[in-house]
Amino acid sequence: MYFVFDIYGTLLNTHSIMNAGQVSAYRKSIDIPWNDFSASWRERQLRYSWLYTLTGSYVTFWEITKIALQDTMQEFEIDPSEAFEDTLMNGYNNLSPFEDVPEFLKTLLDKDSALAVLSNGDERMIKEGLKNALLIDYFKYILTVDDIKKFKPDQEVYKLAPIAFNCEPNEITFFSSNNWDISGANKFGFKTIWVNRGQILSEQLPGSPDYEVQTLTEALNFIEV
Ligand code: 2OP
Repeated sequence: MYFVFDIYGTLLNTHSIMNAGQVSAYRKSIDIPWNDFSASWRERQLRYSWLYTLTGSYVTFWEITKIALQDTMQEFEIDPSEAFEDTLMNGYNNLSPFEDVPEFLKTLLDKDSALAVLSNGDERMIKEGLKNALLIDYFKYILTVDDIKKFKPDQEVYKLAPIAFNCEPNEITFFSSNNWDISGANKFGFKTIWVNRGQILSEQLPGSPDYEVQTLTEALNFIEV
């Protein structure tokens, strides 16, 4: 069995930016609901990625993240000073891993499993983020949509994993905290584990999770390692 992971929201906490040292200095000087800001930025980042792919357009996920940030700063009437934008964007290179991640990945590797990440991020963004989170050495393959210029859940994206491992889709177990990503991966033929960290309601989407857990540790009950 091969194990493939989504990154943002699954391995790395996109909202951890708000507690990063440099950002908290800005937060003190700008009185807005920062949790709402972070949620709105993430929602725009994903929605823009879907709209770019649906219209046959493409820019890197780093660029998508930046334009989503600029529009969210406008929504919250924050002065778009270059310095603050750069500080927040740099936060994407330094996201914190969720606390269950290192131990879980180590457990899989100890049992000679092969691991990969499959992400919307471009290679630089992925490698920088995984290196800074001390996770990059767990993965045999770094798979990025930048190779095919389409974002998840476009079905072309999920092909990258069975090509890398030279296996059938149903030999892959895919982990994501994003239900729309689980939907796309399940439709493609992966075994899917929805890491529902936010305990959101399940929705009626084209594909569905084979298992739903709240932490990666719980997933050990459902996978053959
Ligand atoms: C990913 O890492 C955006 O979380 C999504 O591909």
